[in-house]
Amino acid sequence: MMTTTKHLLITGGAGFIGSHLVRLLVNKYPDYQIYNLDALTYAGNLENLKDVEQAPHLHFIKGDITDRDFLRDLFARQAFDGIIHLAAESHVDRSITGPMAFVVTNVIGTVNLLEAAKEQWAGQFDGKRFYHVSTDEVYGSLGETGFFTEETAYDPRSPYSASKASSDHFVRAYHHTYGLPVVISNCSNNYGPFQFPEKLLPLMIHNIRQRKPLPVYGDGQYTRDWLWVIDHAEAIDRIYHDGVNGETYNIGGNNEWKNIDLVHLLCATMDRLLDRPAGDSASLITFVKDRPGHDRRYAIDAGKLKRELGWEPLVQMQEGLERTARWYLENQEWLEHVTSGNYQKYYQEQYASR
Ligand code: NAD
Ligand code: TYD
Repeated sequence: MMTTTKHLLITGGAGFIGSHLVRLLVNKYPDYQIYNLDALTYAGNLENLKDVEQAPHLHFIKGDITDRDFLRDLFARQAFDGIIHLAAESHVDRSITGPMAFVVTNVIGTVNLLEAAKEQWAGQFDGKRFYHVSTDEVYGSLGETGFFTEETAYDPRSPYSASKASSDHFVRAYHHTYGLPVVISNCSNNYGPFQFPEKLLPLMIHNIRQRKPLPVYGDGQYTRDWLWVIDHAEAIDRIYHDGVNGETYNIGGNNEWKNIDLVHLLCATMDRLLDRPAGDSASLITFVKDRPGHDRRYAIDAGKLKRELGWEPLVQMQEGLERTARWYLENQEWLEHVTSGNYQKYYQEQYASR
């Protein structure tokens, strides 16, 4: 795409991946005006952006993509050249206990945003772009072999992945029906700093530090492909600027781990960092009741992204895991805030007068 971006809207920029993306783009494109639209749900936290919040070209907008009137007002006030859409309910376990929030935010919220873009751009699509950030979980579950490619048929199996698959379909439908200039990427499991402690790695780090049991679901033989979150942010930057309208790009770390092996690697890393005897943390591993409908294996073929846009993951697992573990150990305060609701107070203090 010939980039004419001046006003870029990012949704979900106070979340885990979104905050890394906002940081990357704010630092890399001082000539863009970047608007971070986030509802600040339990998963969104402005402390994730403390180091860039004073940047004059970063603007925070508190708002909910499920609220059509709010979006209509926003788009009436502000023109956007590009939208990178990450806002979502993102945790599989929560989708099992409460699927409706996933339908509302991930499906209806995405369609609201598509509508707002379609109305604002009104057929003038030159230099415009709607980028939908999605997950490899839409492809379903693999056996021992094989990889998801961009041609793999969708086969979502959890309420989370079903809602993301549905949103992907709507994004493609807006491209085919209305000509909306869209790109989609489907990425594997991310890890790194600022991930909410409900997800596997931060949860295990937290429990190891507190010497609490490490709950491994089922037999622990479930496989995920792990990607360093900043590598994902860099892939998004590349696809946003150089991707082809209507195309899908798979993003992966080429880095498959069985959960139990990954937890063991983490335990060894934590023993070292905490100066505990080897094997100390691993003794906390506890096999617990499995997740219903648990997908056995995800693995991404990211060859298209490498061939066409020259992107490859840069950070290796051992290095990324150590950086992640250190970050959580050094940021206990962050952990306490995101889990206690104190960030709401922080938000009030920072933004009440803006
Ligand atoms: P996250 O849960 O950490 O953050 C989601 C953000 O969206 C939060 O800041 C939250 O406040 C905001 N949000 C939620 N509902 C909203 C609403 N109705 N209106 C406005 N904002 C709202 O999620 P994440 O892990 O950073 O994932 C970001 C995106 O990337 C999601 O679309 C997810 O499906 C996708 N993805 C995640 C992974 C992963 O491993 N985490 C992998 C592939 C794709
Ligand atoms: P998660 O971080 O929830 O990501 P996803 O389900 O989107 O892949 O979980 C990663 C893997 O770790 C998944 O196979 C479920 C497993 N898991 C556990 O074994 N124990 C846990 O406490 C959690 C949160 C996840």
